[in-house]
Amino acid sequence: MKQTILVTGGTGFIGSHTTVELINAGYDVVIVDNLSNSNANVIDGIEQITGVRPVFYHADCCDLDAMDKIFSAHPIKGIIHFAASKAVGESVQKPLLYYKNNIVSLVNLLELMPKHDVKGIIFSSSCTVYGQPDPENLPVTESAPIKPAESPYGNTKQINEEIIRDDINSGAPIKAILLRYFNPIGSHPTAIIGELPNGVPMNLIPFVTQTAIGIREQLKVFGNDYDTPDGTCIRDYIYVVDLAKAHVKAMQRVLDMDTPQLEVFNVGTGRGVSTKEIIDAFEKATGVKLNWAYAPRRAGDIEKVWANPDKANNVLGWTADTSLEDTLKSAWNWQLKLRERGIQ
Ligand code: NAD
Ligand code: WQD
Repeated sequence: MKQTILVTGGTGFIGSHTTVELINAGYDVVIVDNLSNSNANVIDGIEQITGVRPVFYHADCCDLDAMDKIFSAHPIKGIIHFAASKAVGESVQKPLLYYKNNIVSLVNLLELMPKHDVKGIIFSSSCTVYGQPDPENLPVTESAPIKPAESPYGNTKQINEEIIRDDINSGAPIKAILLRYFNPIGSHPTAIIGELPNGVPMNLIPFVTQTAIGIREQLKVFGNDYDTPDGTCIRDYIYVVDLAKAHVKAMQRVLDMDTPQLEVFNVGTGRGVSTKEIIDAFEKATGVKLNWAYAPRRAGDIEKVWANPDKANNVLGWTADTSLEDTLKSAWNWQLKLRERGIQ
């Protein structure tokens, strides 16, 4: 009997790639998305890739009645909660929007789970909860200290983790896995779905590919005076499809195995890569020369963070196994496809 999974934010970047992998793994998927940062045509893309069209509700997770009706209409066994506002800079300008959207949406789901006998929830957390890890805590493990959030966005992730913990400690009959993502990049190998940021991209990889294709004039590298080998910031860039596969493993664990009620996993490659190394790797992987220049540091950037993924590798039975070169090629192929389709 197929198990039904609710994917909130399922037409978004990570949610759409995860829906593909859930369908490939034999799950039925119900997507809820308010399309505040994505487009409903992603559903067509998912169907084109998998041959299966997930059920889709254009709805807001903050609307308790709407969500209650969706839970009543489907035998949902597990939830992956991607739906959130995620722009760090915007969260500083509009903190109440972020607290309302990111916290009310989760509280609604936690309220509805016992009522509808939903067993498990996977929560999209972020390495941002670690802030700038101390040198002795790099690469960062799940037991590294949680630092004071550097943005309202990051704070919503920390608060949401605490809400889930408190709910379970109060006796809620549910299980949860918190997945702390590092820097998801790339696009599906078919280039049918991928990352489609609204407006001028804040994140590095979309800015790289848009510069490479000529949409942006020049990539600015924010700071080359950090305490790193080449002076630029270091991150753990993980292929979005590998990240999606981690969610399938987590869902299997939370639904089908006798495991702790609450677990936390860092989902990264364990490979720290600098901004300059990304540029070099992109040029090598694609043969495209990038127009870039150093610029002042970006406020709020941390210097260096990358994962110790041992727990996810050994306990979740998952490893990020796509090379940086192939990941960057997938991002470039997606940008080329967008141009072909007249989208960007
Ligand atoms: P995304 O913006 O592409 O996807 C989020 C989706 O949620 C969008 O389709 C948006 O329309 C939808 N949404 C937002 N609020 C909603 C609401 N109230 N009801 C229904 N739908 C709603 O973002 P993403 O990159 O796919 O991120 C997914 C999750 O992973 C987010 O929770 C984000 O905070 C987290 N995360 C992302 C990154 C990253 O670098 N992309 C890193 C760490 C964590
Ligand atoms: C990566 C590196 C920049 C753009 C953010 C959020 C985090 C998570 C992932 C949601 C940094 C440098 C970037 C550019 C550059 N999102 N850069 N020029 O900042 O690590 O993380 O996205 O959870 O919460 O903070 O990702 O892609 O913005 O930047 O030099 O035009 O690339 O300085 O070192 P970041 P990013």
